[in-house]
Amino acid sequence: MYKIVSIPGDGIGPEVVAGALEILNRLSQKHGFEIVVEEHPFGGASYDLHGEMLTDETLEACRNCDAVLLGAVGGPKWESLPHEHKPEAALLKIRRELGLFANLRPAKVYDALVEASSLKADVVGGTDFIVFRELTGGIYFGQPRGYDENKGWNTMVYERYEVERIARIAFEAAQKRGGKVTSIDKANVLEVSQLWRNVVHEVHRDFPEIELSDMYVDNAAMQIVRNPKQFDVIVTGNLFGDILSDIAGMITGSLGMLPSASIGKSHALYEPIHGSAPDIAGQNRANPIATIASVAMMFEHSFCMPDIADEIYGAIEATLAEGLRTADIANTGRSAVSTTEMTAAIVRNLGA
Ligand code: IPM
Ligand code: MG
Repeated sequence: MYKIVSIPGDGIGPEVVAGALEILNRLSQKHGFEIVVEEHPFGGASYDLHGEMLTDETLEACRNCDAVLLGAVGGPKWESLPHEHKPEAALLKIRRELGLFANLRPAKVYDALVEASSLKADVVGGTDFIVFRELTGGIYFGQPRGYDENKGWNTMVYERYEVERIARIAFEAAQKRGGKVTSIDKANVLEVSQLWRNVVHEVHRDFPEIELSDMYVDNAAMQIVRNPKQFDVIVTGNLFGDILSDIAGMITGSLGMLPSASIGKSHALYEPIHGSAPDIAGQNRANPIATIASVAMMFEHSFCMPDIADEIYGAIEATLAEGLRTADIANTGRSAVSTTEMTAAIVRNLGA
């Protein structure tokens, strides 16, 4: 039995999570395992109900389950709240409280979609790498931080153990993939990056079969759009990972396609990379694939069932090959299917 906490959140969140839950249902019927889903509010939806973006109750539920599935949070309605009440603050809190130190963002181009990228098909075709972004440290959390009328300040700080643990799982992932890790930093300017680099190289001694290279973050941004096929596993800090994973996302054509996993020692949270897209919320137009692929990552990382993850990816690919496209990935002039139509097709392609 697997216990999943579902957090639909705001905007298109509820629609895409509903799609992902249908996939979960079909898989549990097909393979005969039991899944219990418990829904909790988070973000704007929670603020409207309880005056708090993240209640203790939701946090506690996330601590007591096998995996969390999150849709998206935030929207114009809550944008003008003070800094500490913004949905972003709640997102950082949940990451920190659950100890989700590693954020995995795969950038894989589906063959059926090579034409959907803003880059040339021969540049993006065959791209398949994954970003390991450190998620609970660095400048996002460093002290001191603050601003007054004349000055604003944040602190980029990494402790040895924080670098060690993210480096280790990046090397382990590379063992199962292409055997290559690129560590991205700014060691030519930042002392914190020099520590990062030293520690990554120390951890590398335990993985002599893995090829490790270092890259400065500015060069990495350029290399990802120049030749994305050169990468296998990227490991980097919180801020650099935030930026680079958006660049990586665009290579694949649409953020609507990309899943993510945030994992720690004892908890894990899965969510699509895209946001709450308030402009199309409630219209049955959102692409559910990123959330459905996030369920695939859940099977891979939380439930240790990589075969089922492959089954989900296979059903997504089959559906794309049939020509189905939601609006975000439909070429102009081509008609788009709805969220529910896309979901139904993927469920059908999972087979009975
Ligand atoms: C992300 C987002 C978040 C981040 C924001 C919403 C706080 O951009 O998950 O990449 O910066 O980590
Ligand atoms: Mg981001």
